[in-house]
Amino acid sequence: MGSLIKISPSVLSADFSKLGEEVVSLEKAGADYIHIDVMDGHFVPNLTIGPEVIKKLRPLTKKIFDVHLMISPVDNFVKDFANAGADIITFHPEATPDVSKTIKLIKEHNKKVGISLKPKSKIDLIKDHLNQIDLVLIMSVEPGFGGQKFMPEVLEKTKAVRELIDKNNLNVDVEIDGGINFENCSKAKNAGANILVSGSTIFKENKGDLKRNIEILRNN
Ligand code: DX5
Ligand code: ZN
Repeated sequence: MGSLIKISPSVLSADFSKLGEEVVSLEKAGADYIHIDVMDGHFVPNLTIGPEVIKKLRPLTKKIFDVHLMISPVDNFVKDFANAGADIITFHPEATPDVSKTIKLIKEHNKKVGISLKPKSKIDLIKDHLNQIDLVLIMSVEPGFGGQKFMPEVLEKTKAVRELIDKNNLNVDVEIDGGINFENCSKAKNAGANILVSGSTIFKENKGDLKRNIEILRNN
């Protein structure tokens, strides 16, 4: 697949005491996107960063901010994340009472729309929205923490989503997120993912050689 594969490093595994420098390092290391995990301690049992931090990171890089909202409710924060500089705003369908309304709201702010499926979330939650969104984020771990083990059972769902997109000639990216490493990245691509999120593998492998780790994930 070559350069068709995009790598979106997750800053959840970065050093939060110097997040700005880490984002600049990721750009220099060849990241295609910057994956920013937003957690509210309600939808998931962890708490990370909000729009104010994203606003401060925005001027440091031109790279696409791939913002993964693990928050509920969602709608009341869409404007803040859009104004903070998110480029892709991805939400969980279980986090909003009206998926179509949330999609419309994100589009009204001229941002790309992603919907994320947790490992146990069914494809039925998104199949009616595929023609309105830009990206499906398949979680291969339970959302909330980096460094967890990849759940191979989501590969079937990844294939099914990719088939649905291709069958309907839609231009929707499939991003996979959670426990992606040098061993399973090719399986994720073969299942139809064209964007790989990775936090711990990129920041920890090869003594934290970001450039090398991004290249290995992209080329294997
Ligand atoms: C988990 C986050 C993932 C996570 C990926 O809730 O959505 O993006 O940071 O980190 P690794 O690659 O370490 O699983
Ligand atoms: Zn994520």
